[in-house]
Amino acid sequence: MAETAVESDQLVFSFDELMTEDAYEEPLITGGVRCHGGYIGGKYVSPRGAVRRRAIANWHRRLAADGLPVVVVPDKYVPPSYPNYPQAKFLLTEGVVDPLTRALTIISIVEGFGARIREVQLPDFDREIKESIDGTSLAHLGSGLFEAHARDEAGHRDQGGHKQMWEAARDVGLDKPDIPNDVLLRLMTGGSRGERKRAFPELSERMEGMITMMANVLIIETFADNTFTWAKQLLGDPEVSADAERAAHIVDCIARDEVPHVDYLTVALSELRGHTLCSPDGTFAIPGSEVIDTIFRGQLRGMATQRPRENRERLRTEIRQAIADESRATRIARTFEDLDAGWEFPHADDEELDILLSPA
Ligand SMILES: [Fe+2]
Ligand SMILES: [Fe+2]
Repeated sequence: MAETAVESDQLVFSFDELMTEDAYEEPLITGGVRCHGGYIGGKYVSPRGAVRRRAIANWHRRLAADGLPVVVVPDKYVPPSYPNYPQAKFLLTEGVVDPLTRALTIISIVEGFGARIREVQLPDFDREIKESIDGTSLAHLGSGLFEAHARDEAGHRDQGGHKQMWEAARDVGLDKPDIPNDVLLRLMTGGSRGERKRAFPELSERMEGMITMMANVLIIETFADNTFTWAKQLLGDPEVSADAERAAHIVDCIARDEVPHVDYLTVALSELRGHTLCSPDGTFAIPGSEVIDTIFRGQLRGMATQRPRENRERLRTEIRQAIADESRATRIARTFEDLDAGWEFPHADDEELDILLSPA
């Protein structure tokens, strides 16, 4: 890999540095679309990583040197994919394709929504954080990190991003399936999100909004891990996939691209924990750890308990409807339910659903 000079102690980077691409020998072209990233020595290398990768590693090392822990989403709260791989494979072998086409299409649309991270309004860090944030990932959120993340998800200029890559994986694996025409409708009616109550009204709306968004995206990105494993198994299964090797490869490329997202969000939220947050007029101050832990815990509770249960129930109904249209309905339904491994949704009061920290 062509080395771009980054000193091991460099902590300040320009926007252009954070966007720097590796010296690709071949582009990634899939479904006729030129996608981001490319190949070096036959291996896929994620986009905009020549400097960004090492920048994040340097900021992470600094956290460790400062003795600060990092926030983590515990594995046990990551809901499994539904339908699971054996169930999904069974549906495909029975010719019940629509629920999976719909699920994969929704993933691609949600990935595209990821570009909204560039719209996050940053607080006035100089005023609202007591200490200096020079040389932290926080100081780079608005000058490269959010923008690189947005481009990775939704694509940029002539390059497709995860939105287009998921569409390609779906079309390659399921052989260009008909897209159910209710996908957008289902997406818009799913989930009920009310007005969010401010947890720390003394802090600026921008500060609380930014932290909430980052915690939310970090949890979604962590939960996505199961989706990647599931999609690689299913679309990579030659018994049900039209092109198992290619489809699984595309999903694997997307999964690799997600690593820097989880990493910078983890580092930035963990840095904030170590700072003192202030109201814009400077009359109120609170340890960042208190704010981050409260917001992160609240987000995790909602996302690990209520929402996946609702999603699962909705999907179950959809799949039952799809099966009911088949003449062999009863047999298919019984086998499908037998393959369900179940999932113990954590209770919203579970005390362990707390922020968990690990050494940086
Ligand atoms: Fe993504
Ligand atoms: Fe991502």
